Amino acid sequence: MTRAKTILSGMRPTGKLHLGHLVGALENWVALQGEYANYHLIADYHALTTDLDSSGIEGNSFDMVIDWVAAGIDPVRSPIFRQSQVKEHTELHLLFSMLITAARLERNPAVKDQVRDLHIENITYGHLGYPVLQAADILLYKGELVPVGEDQVPHVEIAREIARRFNAQYGTVFPEPEPKLTRFARLPGLDGVDRKMSKSAGNSILLSDQPDQIQAKLRTAVTDPQKVRRNDPGRPEICLVFKYHQRFSPGEVSEIESGCRSGALGCVECKKRIAARLTDVLAPFREKRAELEANPGIIRDILADGEQRARARARMTMGEVHSAMKLG
Ligand code: TRP
Repeated sequence: MTRAKTILSGMRPTGKLHLGHLVGALENWVALQGEYANYHLIADYHALTTDLDSSGIEGNSFDMVIDWVAAGIDPVRSPIFRQSQVKEHTELHLLFSMLITAARLERNPAVKDQVRDLHIENITYGHLGYPVLQAADILLYKGELVPVGEDQVPHVEIAREIARRFNAQYGTVFPEPEPKLTRFARLPGLDGVDRKMSKSAGNSILLSDQPDQIQAKLRTAVTDPQKVRRNDPGRPEICLVFKYHQRFSPGEVSEIESGCRSGALGCVECKKRIAARLTDVLAPFREKRAELEANPGIIRDILADGEQRARARARMTMGEVHSAMKLG
């Protein structure tokens, strides 16, 4: 039998997850569980690159694990662990930092975008090294595939360069990881088709939202500005509610599309329908989440077990690194 490839997936602990995370990442992670050996990393050190206040990190990490497990990630098959609890990440990060130039990191478009969006005037050494730490995350487990969205591809490219450089210098230890792009494009946020759903933009539907919250949020969703009255014809192609219908009510899409175009279907009704649909889609999720929230010991056990397994794997790799480098 051929060996299952290793997947390393990671997210920064931003707290409760939203529908964009489900569509853009989690569904994909769950689908990959059977076929591959998965490691699920909580990038809690990475959270510090853009926010020095560390007081929320632990709580956010717990909330994120609840969402992962409620979405169907099986922690028995795939260890879930925090970066900060596996010290080998820091060591490999340090060794890797010698294998890439500062100029190369300054050219990284993913960090450039962040600097622009967050109005950062002087980037820290640690933030510049964001992809170096990410390379350590991936390669510590010899990750071969990294499920990411387009925006993360430049980071994975840096991990490939570092792996190549290490192998050329000290002998082959690491695979060259490849990005595994998620199938579905990012979900737009409630404020328009051009912006993706994101927590910071305040335009998201959380996986943990209750039915009345889902309904209230959708009521505020931006639709076609030319469709003012119920019977005005609308343009589904520029409407985010239609995008949600495409994703979550595939059976009704053609009827909704013609109803919108002809004016027979008003926005209020259309939004009610998607709210009802999302309420149904998220029902099992809410149930599972409530169960986990009531038993926080389960989450602690999941992390303790995942961190122990991750540490064992990380130590093996570091043993190989030490002998390749003749470091003690
Ligand atoms: N940079 C990723 C993000 O912002 C998080 C991350 C950290 C990651 N380490 C990783 C993703 C390793 C994949 C693999 O979403």
